[in-house]
Amino acid sequence: MSDQNKPEIDKISGVETTGHEWDGLKELNNPAPRWWLWIFYVTCIWSFGYWVVYPAWPTLSGHTKGTLGWTQFKKLENEQAEITVRQATYADAFKNASFEQIMKDEKLYTFAVAGGKAAFKNNCATCHGSGAQGGKGYPNLNDDDWLWGGKVSDIYQTLQYGIRSGHDEARVSQMPSFGKDGVLKQDEIKGVAEYVIALSEGKATADMAGAKVFAENCAACHGEQGQGGREVGAPKLADAIWLYGGDEKTVYETVYNARAGVMPYWKGKLSDDTLRMLTVYVHSLGGGEAEEQQAAAPAPAPEAVPAATEGEQQQNATEQQPAAAQPAPTGGEQQ
Ligand code: HEC
Ligand code: HEC
Repeated sequence: MSDQNKPEIDKISGVETTGHEWDGLKELNNPAPRWWLWIFYVTCIWSFGYWVVYPAWPTLSGHTKGTLGWTQFKKLENEQAEITVRQATYADAFKNASFEQIMKDEKLYTFAVAGGKAAFKNNCATCHGSGAQGGKGYPNLNDDDWLWGGKVSDIYQTLQYGIRSGHDEARVSQMPSFGKDGVLKQDEIKGVAEYVIALSEGKATADMAGAKVFAENCAACHGEQGQGGREVGAPKLADAIWLYGGDEKTVYETVYNARAGVMPYWKGKLSDDTLRMLTVYVHSLGGGEAEEQQAAAPAPAPEAVPAATEGEQQQNATEQQPAAAQPAPTGGEQQ
């Protein structure tokens, strides 16, 4: 017999080698450890159990079903049933909760915002954009510039009845068509358009030609300073946010023909719960305003101040100043 067929024996350990060699390192042919073998046998036996209990082997008519009758569909069904039960708990709580309660309850609020977001994509995004950013003639709902109001109750009313929607309770108003109906002459419209643009840039002065026209024809709805009038959904003009556009041509057109944007009504088309979710969602977008009672809440604060001594007051004032970001300095000492 030649040496080649005999396994080589490692001199140090006295164990056969497998004949594999890497850079002078030789692999010993040690048997697998006992504990490892046992685990291996146990897993083999275990797998037989699995084949019996769970669906396993393909057959001509499909596959073995397993004695448990387990399927992924059943698992999914059970999980979905659980989710439905959980949702139902929220849906019930939501149905019975007032807006005030929803705004205070973190879970209900999250539930409402999520539901409203989905409903918004389906019903509102076509006009207002998927991020509610708006477009020409369609207001951006993310900012705090509101035509009709940004309180929960305002938004809810807008959603239910719409704006110039034809519903009996819709929000309705109509800016006169100053040019088409011959209320103002062309140069008056030109002047007032210039004045409106100046208002938006903060450059309007009382001696401008359009100032008088504005005071006589526009201030009733848009406010003396162009601050807007929510009772009639008249946009604020003294800012850089435009619904239709702030260039001379567009503003001229707006004043000549007037605009009358239509927001559909949703009462009867969407469930009341969906409308309430949408309301909370729109309110959450960033421009949401507090209800009157809530807005009045900070009022008690000043009462607490007189209790503090003079020294403490000063200290408080300096401490609070950066946090409150008050634009005006509070004390003479700082100047
Ligand atoms: C057919 C287009 C259209 C659809 C769909 C639509 N809107 Fe509107 N929406 C408008 C227009 C136009 C206005 C502005 C009306 C105006 O000029 O006064 C408006 C105004 C609003 C306002 C008032 C904004 C303010 O500043 O006071 C809210 C809130 C609003 N929409 C929310 C929604 C929600 C929520 C939906 C979905 C349920 C929706 N809209 C669907 C066209 C639409
Ligand atoms: C009866 C109330 C009323 C009067 C009076 C009125 N407006 Fe308006 N105005 C509105 C309303 C309401 C809108 C919003 C229309 C819409 O949303 O479709 C509007 C919109 C506008 C816009 C569009 C703003 C934007 O963001 O694009 C301009 C500009 C404007 N008005 C200027 C004027 C001027 C100038 C006058 C006076 C010559 C005038 N309005 C008089 C109610 C009025």
